[in-house]
Amino acid sequence: MLALGIEGTAHTVGVGIVDETCRVRANVYDMIRPEKGGIHPREAANHHAEAVVPLIRKAASAAGVRLKEIDLVAFSQGPGLGPCLRTVATAARALALSLKVPILGVNHCVAHLEIGRGVTPAKDPVLLYVSGGNTQVIAFARGRYRVFGETLDIGVGNMLDKFGRECGLAFPSGPILEGLARKGSKLLPLPYSVKGMDVAFSGMLTAALALRKQGEALEDLAFSIQEVAFAMLTEVTERAMAHIDNDEVLLGGGVARNRRLQEMVGRMASDRGARMFVPPGDLCIDNGAMIAWTGLQMHRGGVRMKLAETVVDQRYRTDEVPVTWR
Ligand code: ATP
Ligand code: FE2
Repeated sequence: MLALGIEGTAHTVGVGIVDETCRVRANVYDMIRPEKGGIHPREAANHHAEAVVPLIRKAASAAGVRLKEIDLVAFSQGPGLGPCLRTVATAARALALSLKVPILGVNHCVAHLEIGRGVTPAKDPVLLYVSGGNTQVIAFARGRYRVFGETLDIGVGNMLDKFGRECGLAFPSGPILEGLARKGSKLLPLPYSVKGMDVAFSGMLTAALALRKQGEALEDLAFSIQEVAFAMLTEVTERAMAHIDNDEVLLGGGVARNRRLQEMVGRMASDRGARMFVPPGDLCIDNGAMIAWTGLQMHRGGVRMKLAETVVDQRYRTDEVPVTWR
């Protein structure tokens, strides 16, 4: 069985084609890069509307399949930016109708976890999902993916991007800051905000910008932000693992590409006799392959959707999804 998945919750529109063994046959995407400022939802949606059809064609040719051979269309139903979600849902409905195949709306956060289980040996991991818009610690319990901890304000990637933007760096700033952090060495005082199982980043952003104004070097600030923010994330992930006695941790989301984060979580895991898994970078960021694969899993679990049930949900929660496939 072959599924085509379309992702488009935020700045990236992606199309992936995956088979039932989780072989990724194609995974192509295009990201809007605003000239300045943040992402405007309507502009991102227009970008996705223009890019999605060429991407579907590109994915089919990369996979070496004709669209007629696709058995299932899946799309990111939420959470995300309304205009982007609606654009991608419309494209998915049109494609499914024209191919006369089933359509399934997929929870974006669940997809980050499922693709990790699909392409790494992880069986029942705690997922540290760290991206621009989301920061959550998720694990499977009693038929659902439960959120054990999350950010109380902005996502960690969003904090990095906002800090970078204020300092004149390009978007996305996360990878640029990672490079700068390697040249930093002075650990500056930044708020360490862990509240129970939750984290918060806006105080750190304010404090880091204030230190920048006082003339601290960008390298030292990048270094300090990474050390403090990633320590917070490592702490709550470890606590979730300890609570449910779990010895696997999976990273997902764009920030999971960060080597320093991988190093810290990997060290925590090995210290407690656990294993860490990191999917390839192209499957960590927002991508269509994870949507296709999760659609296949849902289909296997008996999930079916009428067109009327494919309405998007900007606030689609991870634990709203009945996980019928495991
Ligand atoms: P979501 O819709 O899931 O919230 P997103 O739209 O932010 O995600 P992703 O592609 O998962 O999309 O993640 C992008 C984020 O990852 C950006 O904030 C970017 O700065 C960050 N990022 C990417 N690479 C790195 C890196 N090497 N180090 C730190 N952050 C990174
Ligand atoms: Fe994401």
